[in-house]
Amino acid sequence: MNTLAQRLNVDRLLLQAPMAGSQGSALALSVCAAGGIGALPAAMLSPEALTQELQTLSTGTDRPWNVNFFCHTPPLPDPAREARWREALSPYYAEAGLDINAVPAGAGRVPFSHAVADLVEPFRPPIVSFHFGLPAPDLLARVKGWGSVVLSSATTVDEALWLQAEGVDGVIAQGVEAGGHRGMFLSPHAPPLRGSLPPEGADPAWGGPAPDHLTADLTTQMGTFSLLPQVVAAVNLPVIAAGGIADAAGVRAALALGASGVQVGTAYLCSDEATTSAVHRAALQSEAARHTALTTLFSGRPARGIVNRVMRELGPLNPAAPAFPTATAAIAPLRTYWEKRGSGDFSPLWSGQNASGCRSLPAGEITRQLLLGFGV
Ligand SMILES: Cc1cc2nc3c(=O)[nH]c(=O)nc-3n(C[C@H](O)[C@H](O)[C@H](O)COP(=O)(O)O)c2cc1C
Repeated sequence: MNTLAQRLNVDRLLLQAPMAGSQGSALALSVCAAGGIGALPAAMLSPEALTQELQTLSTGTDRPWNVNFFCHTPPLPDPAREARWREALSPYYAEAGLDINAVPAGAGRVPFSHAVADLVEPFRPPIVSFHFGLPAPDLLARVKGWGSVVLSSATTVDEALWLQAEGVDGVIAQGVEAGGHRGMFLSPHAPPLRGSLPPEGADPAWGGPAPDHLTADLTTQMGTFSLLPQVVAAVNLPVIAAGGIADAAGVRAALALGASGVQVGTAYLCSDEATTSAVHRAALQSEAARHTALTTLFSGRPARGIVNRVMRELGPLNPAAPAFPTATAAIAPLRTYWEKRGSGDFSPLWSGQNASGCRSLPAGEITRQLLLGFGV
């Protein structure tokens, strides 16, 4: 048994990936009941909803569970870029008969903060995981101080080493085939980011990373089979493999490459308890799911989804898309319009490269099948 499993008092580290916008505590609790580690994605929850969900999770299971936060730095407003983005989208607004000037600009995702920590602390979650690096040092110390195991995603060996140096308890090695947002946060072209703190010596007007820094850097991203063994060799921490694992054979492969556990996302997207929309479920279970791409169009950061009309026509990494998370606001009305008409042409159809595990089953059943890969 590895150290992380011991600390969490479980015999197998099967983590259900937190998937903001696609699931809540219902999925997490079913996973826990079947012997996995369920997760609550908090990035898109209001304070009230977060408290309610934490209450439900903490009273609903005796097994360990995970609450997950983003720790990006919200960007400064960039009216010129926003205007370019709206111009790129304006033909689609005209086609749908919608008014582009009626769209409120706004951030769809909030980073972890002391105010959020105030809500979380009374629940002392067994695991707190982060995406896009780590929060500022005082915040990280606070989370560790109340006893949570801290995990974060690494998409390169350098990121894994950085996370180890900052004191995480385990690293999630996220291969490039993973669905949803890349956790990438280090780049040869941009400084390391720590939550809402600008890097030392930064221009006072520094407003966080432009997506260009990150998208220019997609060449650093590796597949799970390349990333995982290199991270395992580089760090002295338990490594959890993520990306492309869809069944028990995938779990076995990850363990053979040195993983202490696995984190699985896409395979849960069609489970009964996921809140995945009908158009998204249909796409995941169709041949369209064989073609995914990294795109910045839906949020401003690279994330993997099934290729649809807007990705084909604007290009998945169109430079007009504003910085994370502000790209979401102007494309959201098109998504709503087309989803009402049964189309996912303007929706983020998040999916990993391997959607073969997407079945309409209770999450507990999917969990039990994945657990067979641990051989016990
Ligand atoms: C729909 C969706 C939403 C996601 N949202 C989050 C999130 O909120 N936080 C996070 O840390 N990871 C998120 N991820 C990434 C997962 O943590 C994980 O890296 C990925 O699902 C693993 O690859 P797989 O999808 O091939 O199983 C998301 C993935 C998907 C598919």
